[in-house]
Amino acid sequence: MANKVVIGAQWGDEGKAKITDLLAQDADLIIRYQGGCNAGHTVVANGKTFKFHLIPSGILYKGKTCLIGNGTVVLPEYFEQEIEGLKKENIDLSGLKVSPLATITMPWHTEVDGYSEDKAQKGKIGTTKKGIGPTYTDKMARIALKIGDLYSKEALEEKLDVILPLKNKQLEKVYGLKTYSKEEVLALCEKYAKIFEPYVCFEWQELLQKFKKEGKKVLFEGAQGVMLDVDFGTYPFVTSSNPIGGGACTGSGYGPKMIDEVIGVAKAYVTRVGEGPFVTELTDEIGDTIREVGHEFGVTTGRPRRCGWFDAVTMKYACLVGGLTSIALTKIDVFDKFDEIKVCTAYKDKRSGKIYNSYPTDVYIHKYLEPVYETHSGWGQDITGIRKYEDLPENARKYLERLEEILDTPISIVSVGPDREQTIFKG
Ligand code: IMP
Repeated sequence: MANKVVIGAQWGDEGKAKITDLLAQDADLIIRYQGGCNAGHTVVANGKTFKFHLIPSGILYKGKTCLIGNGTVVLPEYFEQEIEGLKKENIDLSGLKVSPLATITMPWHTEVDGYSEDKAQKGKIGTTKKGIGPTYTDKMARIALKIGDLYSKEALEEKLDVILPLKNKQLEKVYGLKTYSKEEVLALCEKYAKIFEPYVCFEWQELLQKFKKEGKKVLFEGAQGVMLDVDFGTYPFVTSSNPIGGGACTGSGYGPKMIDEVIGVAKAYVTRVGEGPFVTELTDEIGDTIREVGHEFGVTTGRPRRCGWFDAVTMKYACLVGGLTSIALTKIDVFDKFDEIKVCTAYKDKRSGKIYNSYPTDVYIHKYLEPVYETHSGWGQDITGIRKYEDLPENARKYLERLEEILDTPISIVSVGPDREQTIFKG
């Protein structure tokens, strides 16, 4: 197996976990490289459903090394909960490692996230309220705690002497929130140190070197999706990290030459949770049907997802900035009973009639855009039992081949259901 990155190519929730899980079988090292417990990855294995937020789902295979990389932000209590859940299922956690360079989400980060979302009159992002934005903000402002800091009392105290006066002023004066004493935070950190102790990997450089030298296979696991990328997504309605393929390098410790393939996972339609533009959104019965048939409710927040037709304009953009070498198309079976399936191939500005064939990055004009669709005939049969590309109904193959043509990117995997086996590897 080549070294692969699996990323979301839309607004998250594309079915990355299933694809990562499948590819993890052939990998030796799996690295989650960005995001935090805002992600919700569902894997169905051996008839059981597992929900992951932070831990790479590759942990379900024995003998794999799973690293939570430096690019992630970790909420200790959530990490602990996830660990406990996996222990209950007797999952072997001996291969689980956490980078000491990963950033800790402290209680004030979730409090500020919650405050900003609940109190925002304008500009609400619709975040998962897991403290993601505030944690990355502090990371970039160089006032965050890293997991490694928990094991050096001197470093921790020194850092807190800088962080806390600043943070407390901000919490009190800007947000009117509770402040923190140094003793209180030190006690919290002691608790966190115990949570991470069995997993923190101070030898991560040696580990990465060893895997590289021995030519072991690496799978980089992205979270969220290209359209939620802080640089390339529908800013400001994005997450605060880089889910694009390039994020795999800054979030793991490996350079670009370690990556052979970038697989972008996309649904045969589009969903989005939270606020932000969504040109192909369907607020009618068709949207409701997609939501019901596709079970489009958030894993992390339970929120109903906004649904719409496949948007080839944003997808083409995602192929470019995400660095995709191929696409894994999921949930195509949701259309089994549809007579017609639409694909958006361009946008039209309602004001001027101007046609956009490429994705306009100025998201403030998106409210004036309407989709230009092409319509495909459905296939009118249950395809969830099909395992070979040639066995797919002709209309389904035509649909897939048309997508490849528009996107100028091959579809390497087609998923026809949630189980590992319900997958077609297209040559
Ligand atoms: P945050 O990542 O919690 O800051 O949320 C920022 C935006 O990203 C919101 O619109 C969230 O709904 C969205 N988001 C974050 N994580 C996920 C995910 O795993 N799937 C889908 N959307 C997500």
